[in-house]
Amino acid sequence: MTDIVVGLDLGTGGVRAIAVDLQGQIITQAARSYPLLTPHPGWTEQNSSDWVEASLAVLSDVTQQLNGYQAIALGLSGQMHGMVPLDAEGQAIRPAILWNDQRTGEAVALIENTIPRQEFIQRTGNPAITGFQLPKLLWLQAKEPQAYTRLWKILLPKDYLGYVLTGEPVTEPSDASGVGCLNLAKRLWDTDILHALNINPAFFPPVIESNAIAGRLKSEIAVRVGLPVGLPVIAGGGDNAAAAIGLGISSSNLNLGSLSVGTSGVIFAPCAQPIPDPQGRVHLFCHVDGGYHLLGVTLAAGGSVRWYRDTFVPHISYTDLMDLAERSLPGARGLLFLPHLSGERSPHLDPNTRGALVNLSLAHTQADIIRAVLEGVAFSLREALEVISAITPIHQLLATGGGARSKIWLQILADVLQTELIAPKAEEGAAYGAAILAMVGVSAYPSLDAALKILARNGHVLQPQANPLYEAGFRRYKLLYDTLKVVR
Ligand code: XUL
Repeated sequence: MTDIVVGLDLGTGGVRAIAVDLQGQIITQAARSYPLLTPHPGWTEQNSSDWVEASLAVLSDVTQQLNGYQAIALGLSGQMHGMVPLDAEGQAIRPAILWNDQRTGEAVALIENTIPRQEFIQRTGNPAITGFQLPKLLWLQAKEPQAYTRLWKILLPKDYLGYVLTGEPVTEPSDASGVGCLNLAKRLWDTDILHALNINPAFFPPVIESNAIAGRLKSEIAVRVGLPVGLPVIAGGGDNAAAAIGLGISSSNLNLGSLSVGTSGVIFAPCAQPIPDPQGRVHLFCHVDGGYHLLGVTLAAGGSVRWYRDTFVPHISYTDLMDLAERSLPGARGLLFLPHLSGERSPHLDPNTRGALVNLSLAHTQADIIRAVLEGVAFSLREALEVISAITPIHQLLATGGGARSKIWLQILADVLQTELIAPKAEEGAAYGAAILAMVGVSAYPSLDAALKILARNGHVLQPQANPLYEAGFRRYKLLYDTLKVVR
């Protein structure tokens, strides 16, 4: 029997499980989706029971294809920031409230009025943010007091799954730092903040290390999914931190970060110390390796391209759309696009800001417009990268996600960000990182660094070219946000 580990990623669209051997080869994988509930505008929820059913199903799908292999550990990762409120029987009191939910404006204001913003950022790495878990708890207290009085624990999505699998309610620093009340320096809940807000710290689960054993697989579940009874379940990491580990990004090489261009665009930069941006313009979270990481998020990256295509040219393929952009010129012949189609996180943290296409003339073509969209997303990411680089310089970014497969967009990104971009040979996402943490958790490797050596991550390196047109475009882009704020 060959040893394998299982990595699981509890995403927003669905759950994915992969079985990986100790040399890092994927043996098999399975995925299932579940619905997103939007009971009111701005609210996003999921039934935690849907997560459990889908997760058990993908684990069964995977084990059915594992003849000749034996699982030695299961590692968890998943969407961050969500809240699963549990009663004393460990049952969910209401549907889970997700990371992209926007209902907590009043709770954020309450936090800001209770704890000085600067102090809050210094302690937790971030200002109070609507999508984080802490404001959700305050929302529950204010709006659903009957549910609140029944509360025993609140768990993050992947930690809830871990609780169902093992019976142990625990969390780990990478996901816990997205709750909004973890003291980053101590990697423990900040009881001063919780007391100031009149919140019982016992609602939050203990924080263990990311590669520690969270618990052991319960027998009834093990039998149902075909995994060994008592299998070690490793705490794992939030999806961004786990995906970074899957790419080999750790605090031992601070020069290498990642740029993911999916629906949203995310820059991930490892750092050794918990030094936040004093204005909280980018996130600071714990990494899974004892270090930290900065995170810059452009909410509509590939989302902007999808919106443009679906709205104006639904018959054109993405490949043709990108070819069209080649027919324009750097600077999109003066057109500027602001990609704030769903508000913005970094660096503005402004859910109400909106997008714009500026400087149109009769001379502009579709090629110019699509090029402006690609450049606008790159400018937005550069704004985030400038904040990050002032704290920790990044020399190379591993570029992943659907958008990074476009040659022209990748070159625009390299040129605008003025950073070397590397196309990794393989990108297996957060489930792969969770699998690596699982290997370390059961000592299949003596350390995370040793495990990361199994990854062949070197790919083609794209050098940035200096282009004064982009520099000029970026200067104009930066003026736009402030200017448009006035007319909102
Ligand atoms: C990170 C964030 C998202 C979620 C979604 O701050 O909000 O990446 O983790 O999966």
